[in-house]
Amino acid sequence: MIEINSAWQELKKQIENCRKCGLCETRHNVVPGEGPIEKCSVMIVGEAPGEDEDLSGRPFVGQAGQLLTLILENGGKISRGSVYITNTIKCRPPENRNPALNEIMACRDFLEAQMLLLSPKIVVTLGGVATKALLGSTKGITALRGQWFDWRGIKLLPMFHPSYLLRDPSRKKGSPKDLTWDDVRALKAKIDELS
Ligand code: URA
Ligand code: URA
Repeated sequence: MIEINSAWQELKKQIENCRKCGLCETRHNVVPGEGPIEKCSVMIVGEAPGEDEDLSGRPFVGQAGQLLTLILENGGKISRGSVYITNTIKCRPPENRNPALNEIMACRDFLEAQMLLLSPKIVVTLGGVATKALLGSTKGITALRGQWFDWRGIKLLPMFHPSYLLRDPSRKKGSPKDLTWDDVRALKAKIDELS
């Protein structure tokens, strides 16, 4: 445990001091991620920090983050504090534009190091950017969500990004929200199955 702790501390330091892409010029804070680092079976990977995250240094604390918490806790009966939450890139893109490929590439080793250190049983990718970064698939998130994939022996479940759900309030059968509630229940069932 001491070794794992110091490996996480070292990794966090490297992430916080990173200057591998231009986002280091405009960020206020790096957002490495948060959650338990020991016996944690689920890692959630979003896209990139937004304004609230950039200002606080914490992932998913703005509106999308509040919806993520609701989806996990109300929809899946999964406590937010039991999962490790991070992003594909650790610094905010100006005006919340999509991360550029060079930014995703520059940050990729950090994400992989986090996955290898945490060694979760399940990784959930939120939205197209995170899903494509890890699966390399050219299919869109609508085609991929709700299916289980394998990432180096870790089960990977793509889901819609909560920001996408904020823009589409429908809860009708087959709507993105309705499908997301199905997905988070499937996530919970898999957690229970594997534990
Ligand atoms: N959207 C993301 O993808 N990540 C965050 O941390 C916040 C909003
Ligand atoms: N399904 C629900 O049960 N609640 C929501 O808020 C969205 C989808």
